[in-house]
Amino acid sequence: KHRIIIDTDPGVDDAVAILLAAWHPDVELVGLTTVFGNLAVEQGTLNAGYLTSLMPAPVPVAQGAATPLVITPHAFPDFVHGKFGFGDLHTEAPAGFAPVKDSAAQFIVDQIMAAPGEITLVPVAPLTNIAMALRLCPEITKHVKNVVIMGGSVHRGGNVSPVAEANIWNDPHAAQMVFAADWPITMVGLDVTHHTIMPESRMAALREVSPKVGGFLAEITRFYANFYRNTAGFDGFSVHDPATVVQVLRPDLFTTRKGQIDVVLDGPAIGQTVFAVDGVGYAEPGFGLRRNVDVCLQVNGDGVLDFIETTLR
Ligand code: BDR
Ligand code: CA
Repeated sequence: KHRIIIDTDPGVDDAVAILLAAWHPDVELVGLTTVFGNLAVEQGTLNAGYLTSLMPAPVPVAQGAATPLVITPHAFPDFVHGKFGFGDLHTEAPAGFAPVKDSAAQFIVDQIMAAPGEITLVPVAPLTNIAMALRLCPEITKHVKNVVIMGGSVHRGGNVSPVAEANIWNDPHAAQMVFAADWPITMVGLDVTHHTIMPESRMAALREVSPKVGGFLAEITRFYANFYRNTAGFDGFSVHDPATVVQVLRPDLFTTRKGQIDVVLDGPAIGQTVFAVDGVGYAEPGFGLRRNVDVCLQVNGDGVLDFIETTLR
């Protein structure tokens, strides 16, 4: 089984990713850690609590950072995810729900150190908690299994600026710390997620399968798909966060290249991810290139969509 922690700002596509992981038989979802991003972290924690009530068994939720490490926070994108993160829905966390007393960063450190080589971290939000976990305990780099990040873009341009993807742009300094650490990373960015568009109808059909989980997903993704239709002209929504979970389970659906990722920390390109690819001139051994990141550059989009739909059914 893949033992996964999802670090999240839930968020419509976060919810799809989380329920996908929670219901897949080959995943053990160890917990959720929350961070600001799509919405305020306190609301994100309540949303995570609600999601635990849609799982086969609830998992712990640890609350994390409310603001980025250095930059002034950006406004929350309620026009993308809705005022409370789930489109037009306002959900309630189940009675008695409370996050664990440890911070997200502490929870991440404790889980990795308690099970060396077993935990896959799946950050699908600004990387603040992950950077804080690295500060708390740098040795986690030696004991994590893999870090599979939804964020960044190499050839596809940005979604919140001409060059920046939202999760990196929301905390570029944290992202730089995470990419520069000596641990194995897989980057699932806009190069693949903007080629993986889920038609609304495929999620709407889940209502008939299960009113509770399927009905919830159909409802929230309708709002999200509207945003993508109106802004990008997509016939459906980009499956950003779910693509990371699929990458863990079906890496064969993705084409990757290895190299170094750095993040632009200021100026008009702030939040851009710069990819130094192994095997080209500047990557000669003498340049001391890091080779810790597998960047997903291509995807079998239909394969990813089928996998998501089949699992959720
Ligand atoms: C990312 O930004 C958030 O809005 C989504 O949940 C996803 O994690 C896409 O750029
Ligand atoms: Ca997210």
